[in-house]
Amino acid sequence: MKRDFPFPLPNGWFQVAWSDELARGELKRLKYFGKELVLYRGENGNAHALDAYCPHLGADLGCGGRVVGNNLRCPFHHWEFDGDGACVEIPYANRIPPKASLKSWLVVEKNGMIYAHYHQQGEAPVFDVPDLPEFGDEQWTPFIKRDFIVRSRNQELAENTCDPAHFKYVHGTAGLPTAEADFDGPLLKVKLDYPIETRSGEKHGEVSICSWGYGIGITRFTGIVETTVFVGGTPVDDEYVHNRMSFTLKKLDSDEATKAVGEAFVNEISRQFTEDIPIWENKIYLDRPLLCDGDGPIAVMRRWGQQFYSPSPGSST
Ligand code: FES
Ligand SMILES: [Fe+2]
Repeated sequence: MKRDFPFPLPNGWFQVAWSDELARGELKRLKYFGKELVLYRGENGNAHALDAYCPHLGADLGCGGRVVGNNLRCPFHHWEFDGDGACVEIPYANRIPPKASLKSWLVVEKNGMIYAHYHQQGEAPVFDVPDLPEFGDEQWTPFIKRDFIVRSRNQELAENTCDPAHFKYVHGTAGLPTAEADFDGPLLKVKLDYPIETRSGEKHGEVSICSWGYGIGITRFTGIVETTVFVGGTPVDDEYVHNRMSFTLKKLDSDEATKAVGEAFVNEISRQFTEDIPIWENKIYLDRPLLCDGDGPIAVMRRWGQQFYSPSPGSST
């Protein structure tokens, strides 16, 4: 049965790859935002994302296409497109038809990741991809990466952070965290405070989550270990989300300790995420959930999230 959500795909920036997955001269076939795309890196090092289907006779540039210099060459008749999607070479024609072009997606590369901008009406970005200061800082470890495909939508996954009660009942955490949320323009800040049982008594752990649209979340854990997780949730289409997590840990005294703590932490967060998947994949979306006084700031998150949805045609909002 097709999942039914009363909102379109969200607008914003979305991670489409890790930088080290794309060498110079390499291309990757991608399916995101319900479209077939080709991501490639030219010889000059710049990454580009283009629609996959050639305007000439419809070949898929992701299947047999080649990077030639800084251009992408179609496998069928060797038309070449530059990073802006313009056809710049037809080896057997004197004139390039003026309409020969492919849609080029706005791409930004930073934090060791490649992001593409999606807007339902093709409008320009209203915010920038945030910097991740931990990336490249020698006090922090290189990324430990995990990714998951979930049959749901970005909003449903994002609401997890504003739902403190589920941490106890789904993930079995010792106590109930408290959660606060606040937003300013496209940036939502959520703070979770939770009790941790340790050998030296009860301590507090804090999680701060900064979200820029539904595609980008930076989660910082402090208390026992300092760990930052960059979460990139990218719609594959209107049914599936590709969720990537890039973990970095503030290095401890020894490499062994850092490795052991890092692995334990990544396994714990991955376990929690895996526990959420059957809930997300089988629940229905309620526009008006029946919340109680112990619930978290889900309503705040939904108010913030409205700005990333283009109004549906004919609606007055
Ligand atoms: S279909 Fe691409 S060059 Fe002909
Ligand atoms: Fe969860």
